[in-house]
Amino acid sequence: MLTSFFAPASQPPLGIVIVGAGTVGGSVLDVLRENAQTISARSGRNIVVRAVVVRNIEKARTRLHPDMAGLLTDDWQAAVQRPDAEVLLELMGGESTAKECIQAALTAGKSVVTANKALLATCGDVIFDAAHAAGKPVAYEAAVAGCIPIIKTLREALAGDTVHEVAGIINGTSNYILTAMEKDGVTFADALEATQKMGYAESDPSLDIDGGDAAHKILLIARLAFGAHATMNDVPVVGVRDFKLRDIRYAAQFGFCVKLLAQAVRRDNGIELSVQPTLVPCTHPIASVDGAMNAILVRSAYAGETLYYGAGAGAFPTAAAVVADVIDIARGNGALAQHGNGTPLPSLIPADDCSAPHFLRLRVLDMPGVLANIASALAQQNISIEAIHQNESAPGQEVDIIMLVHEASRGKIFSGIKQIENQSTTVGAVVTMPIKRFL
Ligand code: NAP
Ligand code: HSE
Repeated sequence: MLTSFFAPASQPPLGIVIVGAGTVGGSVLDVLRENAQTISARSGRNIVVRAVVVRNIEKARTRLHPDMAGLLTDDWQAAVQRPDAEVLLELMGGESTAKECIQAALTAGKSVVTANKALLATCGDVIFDAAHAAGKPVAYEAAVAGCIPIIKTLREALAGDTVHEVAGIINGTSNYILTAMEKDGVTFADALEATQKMGYAESDPSLDIDGGDAAHKILLIARLAFGAHATMNDVPVVGVRDFKLRDIRYAAQFGFCVKLLAQAVRRDNGIELSVQPTLVPCTHPIASVDGAMNAILVRSAYAGETLYYGAGAGAFPTAAAVVADVIDIARGNGALAQHGNGTPLPSLIPADDCSAPHFLRLRVLDMPGVLANIASALAQQNISIEAIHQNESAPGQEVDIIMLVHEASRGKIFSGIKQIENQSTTVGAVVTMPIKRFL
């Protein structure tokens, strides 16, 4: 590491151990080396890497700087105990070893920086309790929305405000896939492969395309914004795996774009959480967020609407967030894990009770009475039709009908759909997506 001219001589260096030298860990090492002087100046301490832990020590690591070769080890247990390291960077991903590693570090009195949203979303209570007991921070800016400082924003910038709603695009892989399908005519499979090559996708990409990664992130956001201790079971999740390009085209006819939207909304009766492909007005800034970019809208009582945009995935944007957390810890600013807002835990609204206007796509036989039967099934659930579109077709042929319906609970929408799917003139499954109309 370069020694900074500005680093006060009286301050000892900050020793760190990095577990994981893949997409994120490798780039953290690059940033620490390339930007050492600035980082030292801003930290007030030189950051010194004591060990780099990997799973397979034999693997060829062409991108790793030669200076780092001597620091490589596959023994995380020993690395975590090093007396010359104050901070552990957990950048290996996965749940069980990562959890053990973080717990061992906290027990050994180390601060922790992690990008592991899956772990924090599923074991947050245990990890944050351990952090609290150890009196050490677990910093996780990189876990949500790559380089967008949304954790800091919720924890610090909006600390005096009351957040009503957080809604955004927080999975870069899914957004890249939707954009590539819509704008470049790329197939789903090719788009997914591209995200894997660029290091955006999780090592298990089903987390991205089935919405789990966005759900992990919205759980972390809901914990900070509302003090909600929700689990994956509290979030209705639909990913982009089965998404069809024609639904983007149909939505466009009504002035909407389709985005995988994650939402955490405070209602009178509790907190509503969801991750679903969602229609957003094409005129809204969120609709123009393309590729692996993320954007998050926060609506709060005093600040009103604030919007945050940036690279949601990828090596260097994520590394920038990790390094910023290290600097915070070096400065003594690493805020302790938050356990809520000091208010009673908010209740969570069951998925079936969450309400929104919806888009429906039905494939039907073009026959007399078909529309009346569909309208009747919806009316039985008290669902009112707002708009309807049907392409030209010949009698008896299959045709798509697109409907926008007024606000209704998810439970009622699904009951109505079930009835429609049982009608003999309906062909295949009905596709539905909520519509987000921003205030
Ligand atoms: P990655 O490229 O697969 O790298 C994982 C690294 O961890 C590899 O160096 C691997 O060692 C090491 N590792 C895995 N299991 C290990 C074990 N049991 N013991 C020691 N080392 C182990 O993953 P990544 O994309 O960098 O992601 C890392 C974390 O960052 C994940 O939690 C991910 O969700 C999160 N994240 C990623 C992004 C992104 O854009 N990629 C963005 C935000 C957050 P080998 O090299 O020997 O295989
Ligand atoms: N796989 C994640 C994404 C990485 O695509 O958004 C960033 O968290």
